[in-house]
Formats: sequence, C-alpha cells, structure tokens
Amino acid sequence: MMKRNVTVVHQLGPRLFSTSTIRTTTVVNEPPLRIGSVGVLAEWVSGVRFRSTLALGEEQKEKPKSEAVGSYWGVSPVKMTKEDGSDWKWKSFRPWEAYAPDMSINLHKHHVPTTFLDKIAYWTVKGLRLPTDIFFQRRYGCRAMMLETVAAVPGMVGGMLLHCKSLRRFEHSGGWIKALLEEAENERMHLMTFMEVAKPRWYERALVITVQGIFFNAYFFAYLASPKLAHRVVGYLEEEAIHSYTEFLKELDKGKIENVPAPAIAIDYWRLPADSTLRDVVMVVRADEAHHRDVNHFASDIHSQGHELRESPAPLGYH
Ligand SMILES: [Fe+2]
Ligand SMILES: [Fe+2]
Repeated sequence: MMKRNVTVVHQLGPRLFSTSTIRTTTVVNEPPLRIGSVGVLAEWVSGVRFRSTLALGEEQKEKPKSEAVGSYWGVSPVKMTKEDGSDWKWKSFRPWEAYAPDMSINLHKHHVPTTFLDKIAYWTVKGLRLPTDIFFQRRYGCRAMMLETVAAVPGMVGGMLLHCKSLRRFEHSGGWIKALLEEAENERMHLMTFMEVAKPRWYERALVITVQGIFFNAYFFAYLASPKLAHRVVGYLEEEAIHSYTEFLKELDKGKIENVPAPAIAIDYWRLPADSTLRDVVMVVRADEAHHRDVNHFASDIHSQGHELRESPAPLGYH
C-alpha cells in the first residue's frame, strides 16, 4: 500500500512541480505487470495519464532522438510478464485482453430463413460459398486464413456506421459500437493466428486486396440500406464458418492436416495450455464464430421487430 502511494506521488511530482524533470521518472523501474493484477495495472494506467499531458514540443526538446523510439511522450514501454513469469511478447494485445472462449456454446443453431430478406441473405451466402469451395477445395488452413480477411470487415464497418450515427443523432449506442468493434478485432486475431500456420502466396495476397475492395464497399452500402439484411448476412456467414471449421477438425482427426503445435499467439490470446495444438486452436476459433453468429442474428432480429439496436443492450464482455 505504502509503495503504491509512493509511486503515485513519484508520478505526480514532475507534473506538479517541474515539467523539465519528467525524464527522471521511467516506468521501466516499476515492477512488471502480471496477468490479473488489477492494482499494478492501475499504476501503469495512471502513469500514462499523467505523463501523456506533456506537449510534444517540450518532449522533443528534452529527449535525445535515440530515446524517442518506443516512447509515448516520455512513457517507456512497460515490461509485462505472464503468470509464469515469462515475458509478454505481444504489442498488439495485452494480458487483460486474453480470454477463455465459451466452449459450451451451441454449434448447431440455425436461423431458419422465413422473410424475403432472410432468404436473400441466406442464398447470398450460399452463393458465395460455391466459388470458395472450388478455389480452396480441402485446403482448410489456407481457406481459414483467407476467409478471416473478409470476416474481420463487417464488424468494423457496422461499428463505424453506428459510431457516426451516434454522433449525428446525439444518442447512445446501447454498447453495439463496442460489440461490433470487438467482433472485428476478434476476427483479425483469428487471421493473426492462422497466418502463423499458413503463409499466403502472391496470388492469394492479390485476391485478398481485390476481395476487400469489393466486400468493404458492398457491405458498407448494404448496412446503410438495411442493417437488418447486413447483420443477417453475417449471421449466415458465421454459420458457414462454423461448418468450415468443423470440416477442418475432421481433416485434422483423419491426419490429412498435420496437428502442429498451437502458435504462441493463440496460446496467449485464448489462454490455452502450453502444449495445445492446432486442433485446440480451431476449436476455440469455432466457438468464437458461434458467438458472432448469435450476435449478428440477434442484431438482425432487433431490426426485424422494428426496434433500433440501441434499445437492446449489446452482448458485451465475451472477449
Ligand atoms: Fe473468424
Ligand atoms: Fe466470425
């Protein structure tokens, strides 16, 4: 407790008394962060808050150029460790963003298309599956990697549009902006994981650029025209993703795809045991897809019933 107080005063000191002494306090000397250590996390956050108020001009004058790299307005990167004491090596996500997926989620739920719009969504997705099956055949690792480049788009587009709508209308979002952006980030982490086990070839990279250009714009205009349709499409895409990952698991079980050790990023992101394999990774990714399926069908249902998303609290906190 005493140490915590000392640390806070230590951080306040430069701001209260002299901005020129900021260089003498560095976070590097503080104890490393550990997963689940909320108290220590608070220390780190308070360090960022106090120091980040320095004007950039002042900071540039004070700091030699060599120290500026890897520094956020004078705050040195914090050294974080895992529960076992080993280094936390990821810059893009922090220990408290890791999570254990809900493995009990129902993988077989299906939204039966009843309305005309549902049927459009359903057959659009079924139509998209055909060229995907032809292109990838049974190369499920590659297929997963490529499809995640598409899957990470809708959440970002939907979240961005809801964000702009919230600003335009001076109204709350019901947590849906955050929920959709969380989905986009989760899908992007799927991609970061699969690219560790399947390297894209040059023509696959070219395909991703082309598909992203088309899909981003198509989804953007679809969401503007009918968020009900857009979310339904994603709901069905996620149903297809669950099917693809189930096929992936079958190929692993038959030995047609080597069950290699899980990439380190997957072990840390999903809090998996150190000896996990690719099969374990596919299992947790599939559980994530089932969650996305439910979120998007739910969002479409809200619109179908004549309500706005903000009227129903978003399913936050999964990740
Ligand atoms: Fe995904
Ligand atoms: Fe998904």
